[in-house]
Amino acid sequence: MRRPLCRAEDLPEGGARGFRFGSGPDLEAVVVARKAGALFAYDNACPHLGTPLDFLPDRFLDRGGTHLLCGTHGARFRIEDGYCVDGPCVGKSLRRLAVTVEAGEIVLVDQRVRLRSI
Ligand code: FES
Repeated sequence: MRRPLCRAEDLPEGGARGFRFGSGPDLEAVVVARKAGALFAYDNACPHLGTPLDFLPDRFLDRGGTHLLCGTHGARFRIEDGYCVDGPCVGKSLRRLAVTVEAGEIVLVDQRVRLRSI
């Protein structure tokens, strides 16, 4: 299953945005960041306690804009692979998701739905 997220130009270089689907126990939250022209998508769930990374909507990056930041306890993750380099879950990683750009839109390739349908 493919889910359009936003126009590609709405996620500029050095930016990060969150997207949510469903509600209640079916809520799925995703964060997408752009670095060096590439897109990186992850479950918006910190490997420490599973809480969303953004303490405020779309506040995903640290002050320098160099790492994804968990607003709960300050864990920092490399944008390019989701690896935690600092904080209570150091050594763990965010769960990577696949995104692509189709006709100018960023599209999430929902791996969980695909696995369920096999
Ligand atoms: S919940 Fe993210 S660092 Fe604790």
